[in-house]
Amino acid sequence: MNVTECLKTRRSIRRYKPEHVDHSIIDSIVSSASYSPSWKNTQITRYTAIENPSLLSEIADKFTPDYNSNIIRQAPLLIAVTFIKGRCGYERDGSFTTKKEDRWQMFDVGIACQSFCLEAWNHGLGSVIMGVFDEEGITKLLDIPKEQELAALIAVGYPDIAPEAPKRKTVEQLLQYR
Ligand SMILES: Cc1cc2nc3c(=O)[nH]c(=O)nc-3n(C[C@H](O)[C@H](O)[C@H](O)COP(=O)(O)O)c2cc1C
Repeated sequence: MNVTECLKTRRSIRRYKPEHVDHSIIDSIVSSASYSPSWKNTQITRYTAIENPSLLSEIADKFTPDYNSNIIRQAPLLIAVTFIKGRCGYERDGSFTTKKEDRWQMFDVGIACQSFCLEAWNHGLGSVIMGVFDEEGITKLLDIPKEQELAALIAVGYPDIAPEAPKRKTVEQLLQYR
């Protein structure tokens, strides 16, 4: 699959087959995503692959709204995407480099998440990035180290549906030349 096809055919998938995702495939996706650009090559993004059914149930039951629990309950795999705090966007003395302050952290994680989802799709795997969850609850449950922050969840699995692409804005709406 070429890049354009991968970009245009990837969809957020919210229903999966129960089939297990091999660790070799997850490893390969993370390896590809590691080639994402990052602030001064700080590479702050980390991934926790959650397969344990009791952990998945606890996240679905206690720490996500229904529309995301319904996805997590039938996904074979959930990735908790975290980042190392205090590097991306910062100078060595701890001050911010730009007016955007620490927002470059989420910028870099976002790029990594897109790379992850595109490479997952390249392996035939569906995914959906989820931004709505109880951050404190999941941080405690997964024992995420204090140097890291939970940024997003990504459900992953072999798609059991093939949704249409939600409508996109036109190039005229998105682009201007000056
Ligand atoms: C930062 C971010 C947060 C998102 N959060 C959720 C979410 O909590 N639940 C969900 O079902 N989809 C979530 N989505 C998926 C979007 O709804 C989806 O990408 C959008 O509707 C476009 O559809 P497509 O991904 O199939 O092109 C999120 C996407 C992004 C990038």
